[in-house]
Amino acid sequence: MAEPFLIGENMTGGYGPVDILHSCTLAVEAGEIAVIVGPNGAGKSTAMKAVFGMLSLRQGSVRLGGEDITKLSPQARVRKGMGFVPQTHNIFTGMTVEENLEMGAFIREDDKITETMEQIYGLFPILKQKRYQKAGELSGGQRQQVAVGRALMTQPKVLMLDEPTAGVSPIVMDELFDRIIEIARTGISILMVEQNARQALEIADKGYVLVQGKNRYTDTGKALLADPDVRKSFLGG
Ligand SMILES: Nc1ncnc2c1ncn2[C@@H]1O[C@H](COP(=O)(O)OP(=O)(O)OP(=O)(O)O)[C@@H](O)[C@H]1O
Ligand SMILES: [Mg+2]
Repeated sequence: MAEPFLIGENMTGGYGPVDILHSCTLAVEAGEIAVIVGPNGAGKSTAMKAVFGMLSLRQGSVRLGGEDITKLSPQARVRKGMGFVPQTHNIFTGMTVEENLEMGAFIREDDKITETMEQIYGLFPILKQKRYQKAGELSGGQRQQVAVGRALMTQPKVLMLDEPTAGVSPIVMDELFDRIIEIARTGISILMVEQNARQALEIADKGYVLVQGKNRYTDTGKALLADPDVRKSFLGG
């Protein structure tokens, strides 16, 4: 079988001497959406940090487009085409929307930054309207749009999102998911953690259920949604 576009394989490690991840594997194919679900404290954010290089692994590896990037810093991974929106503190609240997007372009050396910004304003029109407003003055859903937009400013090949719909209403969640599908259709792979498990698995090509730092179930989103055990234990029946 061909290697997935991005894979964190058999990742074992944590923040100190105690491992949080135990041989955990996550992957996403080019242009597909992979979703990670699981209870609070399961290690979902930790696994995302591990894939992005914010955690030193005791075992395992991370590969992007067939290249071993296990030893690269997060910044070097951004240069290789990874974008990451962390679960918290993912925008600069004291800066305007547009300044946040400009910050996102920090690694760009070309002169097409305005073009990318316009694409992001096309994807999230409300951000254009609020471009000169402080990001901290925006609603929860709008802030998440700023965070996703900021990550898109580097023109990533893979976008990693840790709970992009946290704290937003069901309508805003649906809209964000629609935008995420749109992003994936442009060929960008999406690796995303979601608390809204059922809705996220509906748009997932691949789904992972993590429990206590381990892979519990891995299948297509559709198959996980249809699995009685997964439904009972993780999707509220
Ligand atoms: N910076 C840190 N230092 C030490 N331990 C941490 C740190 N961050 C998380 N942990 C621990 O790692 C474990 C997994 O946490 P993690 O944040 O990865 O879970 P999660 O699945 O993302 O949970 P949630 O659904 O609440 O976001 C928890 O036991 C947590 O206490
Ligand atoms: Mg988390």
